[in-house]
Amino acid sequence: MVKAHSIAVLPGDGIGPEVIAEAERVLEAVAERFGIDVTLQHFPVGAAGVAAAGDPLPEATREAVIKADAVLLGAVGDPALDKAPRHLKPETGLLALRALLGVFANLRPVSVHPALVGRSPLKAERLRGADVLIVRELTGGLYYGEPRGRAASHAVNTLAYSVVEVERVARIAFAAARRRRRHVTSVDKANVLEVSQLWRDTVTAVGREYPDVTLDHLYVDTAAMRLVTEPAAFDVILTENLFGDILSDEAAVLAGSLGLLPSASLGSGPGLFEPIHGSAPDIAGRDVANPIGAIATVAMLLRHGFGLAEPARAVEQAISLALDQGARTRDIAEPGAPVLGTRAMGERITGLIGEEQRSRASVA
Ligand code: IPM
Ligand code: MN
Repeated sequence: MVKAHSIAVLPGDGIGPEVIAEAERVLEAVAERFGIDVTLQHFPVGAAGVAAAGDPLPEATREAVIKADAVLLGAVGDPALDKAPRHLKPETGLLALRALLGVFANLRPVSVHPALVGRSPLKAERLRGADVLIVRELTGGLYYGEPRGRAASHAVNTLAYSVVEVERVARIAFAAARRRRRHVTSVDKANVLEVSQLWRDTVTAVGREYPDVTLDHLYVDTAAMRLVTEPAAFDVILTENLFGDILSDEAAVLAGSLGLLPSASLGSGPGLFEPIHGSAPDIAGRDVANPIGAIATVAMLLRHGFGLAEPARAVEQAISLALDQGARTRDIAEPGAPVLGTRAMGERITGLIGEEQRSRASVA
């Protein structure tokens, strides 16, 4: 019997629903081609959750994600709720979702597609060999620190990490490095912060379990600079929640657009899979958003969520082929060049699922 895979789909806000519709289109095509049994069910999160149930992570959504085999999320965020109380902010729903699923390790791979080298503001020679995996701690640090609070003239957030929290995410980074170029760069601010000193000592100790992986440490300010001056110097970047948030947007500059990049958040239960971009309210509902980040997220879901490497590769190859053929959304197009809308890009990639295998088969 074919194993059934259930996916809770949380399109969220802004461009979330548009890019997730294209991710689903590709997912259905790849499932059909590889005979994978997937069931998709939709639930609100973020501002959509507030609209539907007065809660950015409604009870029905909580129950569904816990029972699912994987969670596919679009984006959350709505400027109309920027000033809302904390418990009604879309971002609070996302943080609660990450905590509920216990997804402490966020994998954000960034590579440069050859056809898009010209779309990065960095010089082509700097981009040569750039292929980075950011492993961002996702359920600790400043985002979750207690106590916190805001008064008129004073506000508090706290930064805390335990050894266990650092160890478990470090192990994910070292294990990932073993499947790559065996190099981990741990990023902290150990010249100033006690938390970073604990982080550095803990990562160093975990590193001894992986003698075949090179470990070095950088302060976050230096890492931020080197990421754009010498990106090929990095393989796996391991860092805490806030630094990882910032460095991953910066690293997107290498790829040419934030709209291209996927992520996988892993813990011990169902994984959470989301593109790294936000809800982009300024372009929502206009069929201009780039769905490639969401579609590449489907590949991560298949690989890390379900252990289905071959279908994951088929999705990645279809994206790559579409780019090779010159398919471009607005964010990655040369000025004045023809552009595809969100849906047309999704359809183009869907049509290319299995294309690489077919052409190889016809050569053989
Ligand atoms: C991300 C986003 C989120 C984060 C926001 C929306 C809370 O920027 O996934 O990178 O900061 O983690
Ligand atoms: Mn971010």
